[in-house]
Amino acid sequence: MKHIHVFAVLAVTTLSLGGSILSSASEEGYDNTAVLDGKLPPAYRDWTLITVAHEEGNLNDIRAVLGNDIAVKAYRDGTLPFPDGAVIARVAWAYVPSEENNKAFGHAQSFVAGAPTHIQFMVKNSREYATTGGWGYTQFQQGKPSKLDVAACFSCHLPVKNRDFVFARYSP
Ligand code: HEC
Repeated sequence: MKHIHVFAVLAVTTLSLGGSILSSASEEGYDNTAVLDGKLPPAYRDWTLITVAHEEGNLNDIRAVLGNDIAVKAYRDGTLPFPDGAVIARVAWAYVPSEENNKAFGHAQSFVAGAPTHIQFMVKNSREYATTGGWGYTQFQQGKPSKLDVAACFSCHLPVKNRDFVFARYSP
């Protein structure tokens, strides 16, 4: 009887291991480096919200910072540096007044997200991107990779080296 029991335990363990590997693969739905080869992660729009920001000046946008599961877990656990596999997305839209909302409020006060502008990604792989702080940088416009100066990305993110080069703080 004993060896039957051992077999059953092994079978269950194998099943659950297989299950967790499968589910994390489908959650990510893409290979970590594919974003840097110009392929938008198919599920990035479903990632978890980390925070929002509004830039004025030439940018004049409203933006959301999103993280994949690995990035968001690190944020919530306060893990620094971010582990390999963490991906952070910065999605931006034009910052536009809303006439419709203003009418409802009875005066001008409302601004909303207009047309998408561009999306930026930071992908953590401490060995592959060792020369840029362990992060790969890339950006997209209208779903396509757009002109990129990785050295400029990295140098502007240098002031937050003590937070693993990431500006965005988690908004609870
Ligand atoms: C002029 C400085 C500057 C440059 C150049 C720059 N960034 Fe950033 N980046 C920031 C600042 C400041 C923030 C946080 C505020 C915000 O989101 O607007 C930020 C936020 C981000 C975020 C969200 C995570 C975080 O660090 O807060 C990503 C992802 C990102 N940038 C990627 C890039 C990529 C990719 C490039 C190059 C194409 C780039 N950045 C170039 C200053 C810069």
